[in-house]
Amino acid sequence: MSHLPLSDQPVTLCTPPRVICADGARHRLAPLCKSLGWREALVVTDAWFQQNSPALAEVLSALRAQGIAVRVFDGGEPDPSTTLADRASAWVREQGARPDHLIAWGGGSNIDLAKALSVALPSGRPVAELMDRANWPAAPLPLVAVPTTAGTGSEITPGAILVQPGSATKVALMANALRPAIALIDPELTWTCPPRVTADAGLDALTHAIESWLTLDAALFDNGDDPDPGYSGRNELTVQFARQATALAFTHLATAFERPNDRAARNAMARASLYAAMSYATAGLNAVHGLAYALAGLTHASHGSTNAVMLPYVMDALVETRRDELAEIARLAGATGDDPLTLARQAPVLTRALVRRLGLAGDLISFGVGPSQLAQLVSDGLAVTRLTKAWPGGPASEAYARIVHHAYHGELSGESRP
Ligand SMILES: NC(=O)c1ccc[n+]([C@@H]2O[C@H](COP(=O)([O-])OP(=O)(O)OC[C@H]3O[C@@H](n4cnc5c(N)ncnc54)[C@H](O)[C@@H]3O)[C@@H](O)[C@H]2O)c1
Repeated sequence: MSHLPLSDQPVTLCTPPRVICADGARHRLAPLCKSLGWREALVVTDAWFQQNSPALAEVLSALRAQGIAVRVFDGGEPDPSTTLADRASAWVREQGARPDHLIAWGGGSNIDLAKALSVALPSGRPVAELMDRANWPAAPLPLVAVPTTAGTGSEITPGAILVQPGSATKVALMANALRPAIALIDPELTWTCPPRVTADAGLDALTHAIESWLTLDAALFDNGDDPDPGYSGRNELTVQFARQATALAFTHLATAFERPNDRAARNAMARASLYAAMSYATAGLNAVHGLAYALAGLTHASHGSTNAVMLPYVMDALVETRRDELAEIARLAGATGDDPLTLARQAPVLTRALVRRLGLAGDLISFGVGPSQLAQLVSDGLAVTRLTKAWPGGPASEAYARIVHHAYHGELSGESRP
């Protein structure tokens, strides 16, 4: 292991070319599309927005008023599959549509579906044949991502996460070319999120912030032969974003959950989600997401809840390796004191307290996992090699097994046993 300080790590930041975040930003969408010369939009959303969102209806009218032809695919579903993406592509072809850009409107699920379509439509091939980016068309269609949750950060990332029939964990279409052309974040769109969605998405954002803050250094990251990697380890700049996102989420997530119309809390969580994505969409993630994908494969539970149950135990496993970072995280979560190790051990305890306050399971027994599923969880988690290779805390197989054991029994080093 190298011990280069963060200031000596190579700095990389991969982002969409335009990132806009402001209350009311949705009103800029139609004139912006027009100014880019786009003429035919495919809007990808789900039935809830089509039926209940005056904001979406307003934007569709504004696009048409700018002379842009608009078709709406409203068949989006939570956790989209490759099958759904193929069905959506077939629908677009049947309509005779030839969109020159896509607009994703919704949570991470609709954004990921739109990302898959941005590659599948110009290639004309089933999504399962596009997992290797050597099979991609010259350029995916440009995408405007308008998130309505805070959030997955998919509007910033190079990935589309999809369920593939027959795979134990989700699969990913992944390339820098898949980053949206425009990330247009309007915190007002999150006001209608039910508390369950607010909690899930908010804990996903907090996970992105903390997991990417603690992940492998850029100098140690294995980019293989890839000259254009999407994820490449943490550096001084990604850590700035992670720190700010962590502070915002610890301060505002519970309020957004408990008081859905609190403008300041919703705005802060939209920024927390954005800044967390600005960190993890370059630095990458590791064991929380690897094990969460495996847990989702076993239980089909939501992405946010599977992350939330694993996060405290992964943090605890890094108390030695990332002591100072965890001590800072504990302070951002409200801990006081001077001893760095004592503080570091408090970070997972305070994180789990937030998870439970938001009504989610804080250990695998409460999650409904049985002892016979633990070995599978460890091996499926380790099998997500794009994440396992970024584990910063020593041999991954031993660490993942220990994390799952502690997560099952709800054991954290900073909490005295009864
Ligand atoms: N591509 C990436 O980088 C990335 C990163 C993290 C997660 N993800 C993926 O994102 C998905 C989860 O996304 P999510 O947490 O945003 O939830 P979601 O998109 O699955 O939405 C969950 C539900 O909430 C509803 N909803 C969303 N916004 C709403 C609003 N403002 N008002 C009312 N209802 C609303 C949706 O209609 C849906 O029924 C998972 O499939 C996960 O794998 C992708």
